Amino acid sequence: MRPADPENIPSDQLMTAAVEAARQAGALLLDYAKSGFRIEHKNPIDLVTDADRAAERCIVELIHRQFPSHRILAEEQGSTVQTSSPYQWIVDPLDGTTNFAHGFPFYSVSIGVEHDGIGLIGVVFDPTRNELFTAQVGAGVHLNGTPLAVSRVNHLDGALLVTGFSSDIRETPNNNLDHFARFALKVQGLRRTGSAALDLCYVASGRFDGFWEVRLNPWDMAAGIVILTEAGGTVTDFAGGVHSIYGKELVASNGLIHQAMLEVLRQDARLRS
Ligand code: IPD
Ligand code: CA
Ligand code: CA
Repeated sequence: MRPADPENIPSDQLMTAAVEAARQAGALLLDYAKSGFRIEHKNPIDLVTDADRAAERCIVELIHRQFPSHRILAEEQGSTVQTSSPYQWIVDPLDGTTNFAHGFPFYSVSIGVEHDGIGLIGVVFDPTRNELFTAQVGAGVHLNGTPLAVSRVNHLDGALLVTGFSSDIRETPNNNLDHFARFALKVQGLRRTGSAALDLCYVASGRFDGFWEVRLNPWDMAAGIVILTEAGGTVTDFAGGVHSIYGKELVASNGLIHQAMLEVLRQDARLRS
């Protein structure tokens, strides 16, 4: 395909490319899951496999071929294409590597597109369930083509929440265990799935009512935040302020339980000081 005009790309064209990249990478992940993969350790509990790297190469090549001037930030390669373009693609080729490595079928490909630092497109693909979450700002959010909306649960007692732990959990006191313990006593159920991108999509689709985590990276959140907000969800930092995918705190919810979630996190902050 001929490279597009770098400054003015119709969102549909970005979406088509993101979906194609996510599906191709997802197919690659399933091939590796079936035929075998090599595991390397970034630290004892931080894994990367040759499937992560192959899926990322596939996505980066596809984006670069179609939009050669666009910036790309990808988990394994870092900022691979650095230009002055207002467009940036943010890629996690395999979100949920630990699950993948254990044959636990809960992982995803996550691709977000920003324009001037604002999320425009979010695509998250779960290849094991063939579930494709897509959102385009102003044009709604879909799961396999069906519109999505957040849940109507309005109290923590009736809420199913999800969280996660970063791979430096052994090195940092900001390890989320205090929040986990406090929420566990307040909610109907609490899960740790191992794919932050899918956690955001599951809040967007009403399967979860809320999600919080510390120390995530931009590639974990870029696509999922667009999907969540287009579904009517709320996202902030722990103080209720503006959330940034470049920041380290995330509270995402259906909106109705947001203040109650912030209050639990505030109690933990008070206890610590
Ligand atoms: C991880 C997952 C997990 C989250 C970790 C992330 P990875 O990403 O999103 O849910 O709790 O903080 O690092 O390493 O599997 O791409
Ligand atoms: Ca990730
Ligand atoms: Ca990853």
